Amino acid sequence: MAQMHLFGYLMAGPTWHLYGGWRHPDSDGLEALDPARYETIARILEAGKFDGVFFVDFLTIFDSFGGGYQTNLREAGQMCMMEPMQLLAAMARVTSHIGLAASMSTSLYPPFHIARAFATLDHISQGRAGWNIVTSAMDSEAQNYGLKKLMEKADRYDHADEVVEACDSLWETWEADAFVGDRENNIYVDGSKVHYANYQGRWLSTRGPLMTPRSPQTRPVMLQAGSSPRGRAFAGRWAEAIFTLQNKKPDMQAFYADIKQRVVDHGRRPEECAILPAVDVVLGDTLALARERAEEINAFASPTLGLAELSNVVGLDLSAHPLDTPVAELELGQAYQGIVDSIRQGAEAGNLTLRGAGEAWARNQMTPQLVGTAEMIADHLQDLFESKCCDGVMLCPSLSPGGYVEFVEQVVPELQRRKLFRTEYQHKTFRSNLQN
Ligand SMILES: Cc1cc2nc3c(=O)[nH]c(=O)nc-3n(C[C@H](O)[C@H](O)[C@H](O)COP(=O)(O)O)c2cc1C
Repeated sequence: MAQMHLFGYLMAGPTWHLYGGWRHPDSDGLEALDPARYETIARILEAGKFDGVFFVDFLTIFDSFGGGYQTNLREAGQMCMMEPMQLLAAMARVTSHIGLAASMSTSLYPPFHIARAFATLDHISQGRAGWNIVTSAMDSEAQNYGLKKLMEKADRYDHADEVVEACDSLWETWEADAFVGDRENNIYVDGSKVHYANYQGRWLSTRGPLMTPRSPQTRPVMLQAGSSPRGRAFAGRWAEAIFTLQNKKPDMQAFYADIKQRVVDHGRRPEECAILPAVDVVLGDTLALARERAEEINAFASPTLGLAELSNVVGLDLSAHPLDTPVAELELGQAYQGIVDSIRQGAEAGNLTLRGAGEAWARNQMTPQLVGTAEMIADHLQDLFESKCCDGVMLCPSLSPGGYVEFVEQVVPELQRRKLFRTEYQHKTFRSNLQN
């Protein structure tokens, strides 16, 4: 029987999507620079038999709101304060089964760097590396890397195809038995089993070989989070799991069917790409207690920071518009199409003004907040899973680490009781567990 897949969302910064949440006394937001914080979360989620954790990563401090980054810094918006691959290496050393993934931009990192970094992580973790393939969306990110702006959006995924092809050619440069280690015959590596890549694309080329021997998985598990038509086509070709933000059942089912079809069109089996919408979960022993708890947590949300964060994703300085402007009247940018679509769906449904949008966005609006008892949450997740809305979820809690702990202690056992989730890891590598 098919089982669900679970991922934990991470950012190397003060807060995930509850903007202002770092001020809650139970938040670990002040420990953003401490590797122990991430090691603890990895251990918690491994105890819950999660498939993987994944770090988002943006290569800029967001400064779209009010002409600068003051609000974002003061109130602790989304900030990637640490380079995630190095944190994953630390997390690898205190875990043995959970997958360890990070975003790395195809637009800003050369394939040789990407291939080397993930091959190294795959060795360090003994086969648990994962790459969330992102194309980046902000010109300020490009400017940090010496470019004026990013490549035109229409070309970014074509370019990303080349980056992944180039990485693949590098990961293949060492045959599996090239490393010999024979002291007696003085053979460390059999050079006849190491090859040049000589990849040549339209935009880029790489010579190889990689210096890193073939890693346990050869290539990291490939993840993706785009939802434009071209982003979906890209996922159909490469993604082994895709993160989404849909939260209404018909939208989820349509997205699910569309991606699975694209996967099949690329000659892959539908189960080779897990579809994982983001959820936040707030638990209580009764519904009333869970609601009380959600209210207490959500009270930390800052509407100003919500608007600042929204400004970044829609590519507009929303401080320049009156708070009673209906969101439906604004021309929203398409840099992050999936995110903007979810805002638009919400705005049209709710006649939302900027004031309401700031408030809603501050309350983990990127991810629907599921509030209830463990059994109610398990019912909901089971329904989504069985009605082909998803293959599991990405947990993005309002509060870390408590949101992970509660889910692992209460919801996971309920899913396991229903045989919807593994009770033990069956395999050693990230990919084999994910495809199980
Ligand atoms: C859940 C989620 C996580 C994302 N994580 C990142 C990230 O870490 N870094 C990044 O540059 N973009 C990230 N993105 C943006 C997407 O990777 C993608 O580049 C963007 O949505 C534009 O593609 P699209 O128009 O096809 O949706 C994320 C998007 C979603 C929905």
